[in-house]
Formats: sequence, structure tokens, C-alpha cells
Amino acid sequence: MKLAPSILAADLANLADELRGMETCGCDAVHWDVMDGHFVPNLTFGVPLIRAARPHTALAFDVHLMVTDPAPYIPQLYGLGVSTLSFQLETTHFAPRLFALIREHGMQPSVVLNPQTPLSTLEEVLASVENVLLMSVDPGFAGQDFIPAVWGKLERLAQLRKHHDLRFTIQVDGGVNSGNLARLAGIGVDCVVAGKAYFSAPERAQFVREVHGAAGVLT
Ligand code: DX5
Ligand code: ZN
Repeated sequence: MKLAPSILAADLANLADELRGMETCGCDAVHWDVMDGHFVPNLTFGVPLIRAARPHTALAFDVHLMVTDPAPYIPQLYGLGVSTLSFQLETTHFAPRLFALIREHGMQPSVVLNPQTPLSTLEEVLASVENVLLMSVDPGFAGQDFIPAVWGKLERLAQLRKHHDLRFTIQVDGGVNSGNLARLAGIGVDCVVAGKAYFSAPERAQFVREVHGAAGVLT
């Protein structure tokens, strides 16, 4: 699997060092949790910090918008090396319009579902996305425990992908740690987001190796 550490759990006062460290440790992308204090009860950072970070790393940026109105962020993120742009499906009735806008701005569209949002809400958009991100904690904060009900949801998503021969990647965000990597890989998860497990690891490079080497054996 690939690893995109969540900057939310980094030392933001030493962001340039943290970004360089992620590159040295072999991380695959930088996950940015943009929050607006409305969709989630927390406020993090916005486009100016992402722009300021860009010269400090060659890693791809993976932006996760936890905001009530994602549309205005799309043009603002253009040209900042954002590979995948994820928005919460709960925030809009116009997902196809947002997918088109994201593609027009050179990014890959991705949708996110909160733990309580049924997988069935994705049915009509699955063929239009490059990535599906399932939240495995209620969004807003790093360091929470993986919600067990999400296991079944992940399995059903992987089955849907297979059944319909679709190509989107599956990403999981929240409560990922050394103890659940093998099970995630076994289900078919392509990329994990990790905050605490990466930034609090005694040996970060070792955690990256564990993610990359997760063998896909069901536990
Ligand atoms: C939660 C964020 C996550 C979070 C993950 O709202 O979307 O990216 O930072 O942190 P951990 O891995 O510590 O659960
Ligand atoms: Zn996230």
C-alpha cells in the first residue's frame, strides 16, 4: 500500500523540516486536511499554507476538503502540485459538476464518505472518480480509534469495484496503525492516510516500510 501522512499531526512550526523528512522516509504523498470549522468542529489550514509548503518538497499533494462549500477551493488549488482532490460527498448535491471542475484544473477527483454515510450514496458517482476515501473516524481530529463498522464498508466497496470492473483507488483515513495494515491491504486498500501512527512513530522510516510491505493477509 501507499502512505500519505496527514500534516494535521505534524509539527506545523517546523513544516519545511517535516516535509523534507517525509520525502527522506519514502512517503508517497502529503495529505492536507483542510477544515473550515463548520463541516467539522475544528479549523486547520487553507490554501496559503499549502502554497507556502510547495517549494519545500517534490512529493505529490493529496488534499482532503472538510468544508461545507468545496467549490471555491478548486481553482485556488490549481498549480500547486495537487494530484488528488477529495471532497466530502455529504456537502454537495452537484458532485458531477465538481468532478468536472477538478479535472479542468488538472487534478484527480476523489470523494469522501464519513463513517455514518451509507455506501449506497456513492453508487451513481463511482464510475466518475479516480479515488474513493472512506473515513474510518469521525473527521476533525487526528489520534482517534478506527471505527470497527468501517471494515464491512471497505469490504463492500472493494467488492463493488471488482464486480463493476472499475478502476478507482481506495483510500482509508483515520485510526490507521501498524496493527491494522495487513487487514487493510488484504481488503484491497491502495493508500492509507496516517497522522499519529506516522508522526509519533519512534522510527518513521520503519512505519513507511511496514505500509509498503503490508502483505494483504487477512487477519
Ligand atoms: C481526520 C483527518 C485525518 C487524520 C488522521 O479528520 O481527516 O487525516 O488526521 O489522523 P490519525 O491517523 O491520527 O487518525
Ligand atoms: Zn484526511
